[in-house]
Amino acid sequence: MSPGEKLDPLPDTFILQPPVFHPVIPYVTTIFGGLRAGKMVMLQGAVPLNARRFMVDFQCGCSLHPRPDIAIHFNPRFHTTKPHVICNTLYRGCWQAEARWPHVALQRGASFLILFLFGNEEMKVSVNGQHFLHYRYRLPLSRVDTLGIFGDILVTAVGFLNANPFVEGGSEYPVGHPFLLRSPGLEVPCSHAFPQGLWPGQVIIVRGLVLPEPKDDSSRWVRAQTPGPSGVERRAALPSGRVGVLLLCQEGGLKLALNGQGVGATSLGQQVLEQLRELRISGSVQLYCVHY
Ligand code: GAL
Repeated sequence: MSPGEKLDPLPDTFILQPPVFHPVIPYVTTIFGGLRAGKMVMLQGAVPLNARRFMVDFQCGCSLHPRPDIAIHFNPRFHTTKPHVICNTLYRGCWQAEARWPHVALQRGASFLILFLFGNEEMKVSVNGQHFLHYRYRLPLSRVDTLGIFGDILVTAVGFLNANPFVEGGSEYPVGHPFLLRSPGLEVPCSHAFPQGLWPGQVIIVRGLVLPEPKDDSSRWVRAQTPGPSGVERRAALPSGRVGVLLLCQEGGLKLALNGQGVGATSLGQQVLEQLRELRISGSVQLYCVHY
């Protein structure tokens, strides 16, 4: 690929749902584009000290009467002598057989990061980076278009993410990095140093919101560029809206993904990767997370 050559414009599917910070509970929101395998929902928050129970419902619609089907009801219960978690499905107003986990993995008074990862056949849940449970779908995932959060829970952020598209079979175990709002480390422009350079297997994740009025042309692009005047550049247009960027370093190069879809690869020798010592982010973007 020649320097500066552009990739195709991005399809609409690259527009990702923005995170929601500090929603008031009960909270019900549409899931843009509905759920499909490879999507993740991240919930950051805390369990109040006096919590009895809370519910995270992945619903098929949001009507009040009749009550919508709930494909997945995730319900930690703290008020019984043996706290536990129930998952279930509400179909045509009737609860199905409960699936029960005798251990909550969440504690009253403690903060948490829960990730719901949607696969082809089941949902996997991790709590604070540890696998917690999986629940086989009883209704088609494609029917789910609404997220509802109810009960005794304090939510600091809800994020809508796509799984790493470069992982074979999409069976990657959920990994979530918290979203921060107005953190000094995420003020743009910012710079992150890699004293050892990049190495194969390293994944760099940048999540943020591309602001509607870019200050200059540079903010409309994501660039992966080798150093030096004859450096190779790979770039992809960013839609104004929301983006999650993932750079994957591999033996022989860099791969770039936007919101869960691969958009290009650049061949780079190991020596060049090792020379990449800095990640700079500038332009009209509000950052929520930079992780490497
Ligand atoms: C019921 C409860 C519902 C729901 C359901 C799950 O006992 O009233 O809110 O949690 O269990 O099976």
